[in-house]
Amino acid sequence: MTWGWSLYIGILTILNMVALWWLLWWTGKPRKGMAKLGEEMDNTWDGDLKELNNPLPRWWLGMFHGAIVFSIIYLILFPGLGGFPGLLHWTSAKKYTHETTEAKQRFDPLYQHYYAMGVAALSKDDQALGTGRRLFLNNCAMCHGSDGGGMPGFPNLTDSEWLHGSTPERIEETILKGRTGAMPPWGPALGDEGVKQVATYVRSLSGQQVDQTVASAGKARYMTVCVACHGPEGKGNQMIGAPDLTNDIWLYGGSQGAIEASIRFGRTGQMPSWEQRLGKEKVRVLAAYVLSLHAPQNP
Ligand code: HEC
Ligand code: HEC
Repeated sequence: MTWGWSLYIGILTILNMVALWWLLWWTGKPRKGMAKLGEEMDNTWDGDLKELNNPLPRWWLGMFHGAIVFSIIYLILFPGLGGFPGLLHWTSAKKYTHETTEAKQRFDPLYQHYYAMGVAALSKDDQALGTGRRLFLNNCAMCHGSDGGGMPGFPNLTDSEWLHGSTPERIEETILKGRTGAMPPWGPALGDEGVKQVATYVRSLSGQQVDQTVASAGKARYMTVCVACHGPEGKGNQMIGAPDLTNDIWLYGGSQGAIEASIRFGRTGQMPSWEQRLGKEKVRVLAAYVLSLHAPQNP
């Protein structure tokens, strides 16, 4: 705030308070031509309803005076009078830093303790899992669902398929660094007929009923273009996040139409990285929580 504004606001505030006090004094003062206190005034309504000139109740006036005294004390102690910081030098920023450092001091040792335990042990610690669940609801549920059940394009974290690996180390790395699943578009290379054939073959891999001649034409194409990432048996490759196509668990849908769309246009799933945002300690607790979604202790 510039010096001029500070003065302007300060003077305006003080003038307002003085004006209020004056108004209180002026309205309470007997004036010429008015009825004396406690006497009848000139007005009469409804035949016999009369008005007496009684003063405002003392407690009522006292409240006004009290409020003014309170605001003077407040403005001396706290910021409010232009740029004057107040004798206590209180600021909202200071209060915020104070509260966050306090929270850090309280919780940091706990997270460090958790970090030292390692993911596998944490995934059996009820208290750590409770913390993990809260972190999950705040940071992950909007994409993976509050129960980790996922939705199209966002993997289910409770089923048996892992795009990027199920060891504690891989899960932790997934959350720390993020992952990108890049399936290139094959529409232009395969043409409509080719996409249809290979999609039919893909469906057969998970045991769906399909036309065998179409599927075997599709298999030939699969073995030239898809095999590099999804493997000769369609089991996928967790190093690059290529899904297993044989288990009837689908990230984008297992119907002929959905599979054709995956093949024709490609898919790019993006899991954000959390190392910067949450820090490695909280990520470890989250990795343990994700692991526990898979292996519930009380089945
Ligand atoms: C913006 C949406 C989004 C948010 C938020 C998000 N994720 Fe993900 N996550 C994804 C997507 C998309 C994938 C799949 C990436 C791919 O297609 O390869 C994924 C993949 C994963 C995987 C790998 C699953 C597998 O099968 O290998 C794990 C584990 C995971 N997320 C955990 C988390 C955790 C824990 C959080 C919270 C800290 C989180 N995610 C927040 C979108 C998100
Ligand atoms: C460069 C490696 C690569 C090649 C080649 C490739 N894919 Fe993929 N595919 C992926 C990845 C990675 C994903 C996961 C995309 C994601 O996570 O968003 C994927 C996803 C898919 C899906 C979606 C699966 C689901 O669960 O919804 C299908 C279906 C699929 N691929 C079939 C094929 C077929 C058929 C071919 C050959 C025409 C092929 N892919 C070639 C890497 C590849």
